[in-house]
Amino acid sequence: MRTAFVAGNWKMNGNTDSINELMDGLVNSINSSSVEVLVCPPSVYISQVKSLTESSKISVGAQNVSENANGAFTGEVSLSMLNDLGCEYVILGHSERRSLYAETDQLVAAKFIAAVESGVKPILCVGETLDERENGETLKVVSRQLNAVIDAAGIEKFADAVVAYEPVWAIGTGKTATPEQAQEVHAAIRAEIAKSDAATAEKTRILYGGSVNAANAAELFANADVDGGLVGGASLKVNDFIAICQAAD
Ligand code: G3H
Repeated sequence: MRTAFVAGNWKMNGNTDSINELMDGLVNSINSSSVEVLVCPPSVYISQVKSLTESSKISVGAQNVSENANGAFTGEVSLSMLNDLGCEYVILGHSERRSLYAETDQLVAAKFIAAVESGVKPILCVGETLDERENGETLKVVSRQLNAVIDAAGIEKFADAVVAYEPVWAIGTGKTATPEQAQEVHAAIRAEIAKSDAATAEKTRILYGGSVNAANAAELFANADVDGGLVGGASLKVNDFIAICQAAD
């Protein structure tokens, strides 16, 4: 049995006051032990969020990390820094990183390996653009993104990894994949992992991301291979995020 998982990706949003308010609402309401709940604030607010979650069941993660250990990399954040702050997870290969910051499959794989080796669990994002879907290339693209990491890292490094399927055309657009579309790709991702190791495929959580909200979460999470969600916009709204976590319960 896979434990359901809901992760909030706050992206580049929030300030000290809004985060205090959001976390106040979340820590008082999220206490189910059957759903793992994670919030990923901008890196400058990780310490603040970590201190606000100390007596709660909510974990804290980062939205990105450098593949380098330390040194002259202005503006970057290292895995030892994330460990120092108590981050359990890091989102890698988000489509915004791939498209806006030119992150390649190879770079994502390097970050994945560095994260696992430092003890921070990766949430590996994969997903096709609208053009790719319309050209019938969805499974090809997702397999390429996934296998670039499996091939470079080795399947044994997926022991604690999470995969997030995020169709680019559904991110921040209000246009969600149908439960059938999500299930089809999630099943294909699991089958692809199974080609390397069936046991790892069975235990890997695969999250859906892309305009998940309080109204559509339950029908998406009801699919056999959808183990929860990676939530953007709705994770900034207390009641919506709580409702999404409850839908995964
Ligand atoms: O990481 C989260 C995804 O990009 C989804 O964002 O829920 O705002 O569509 P969204």
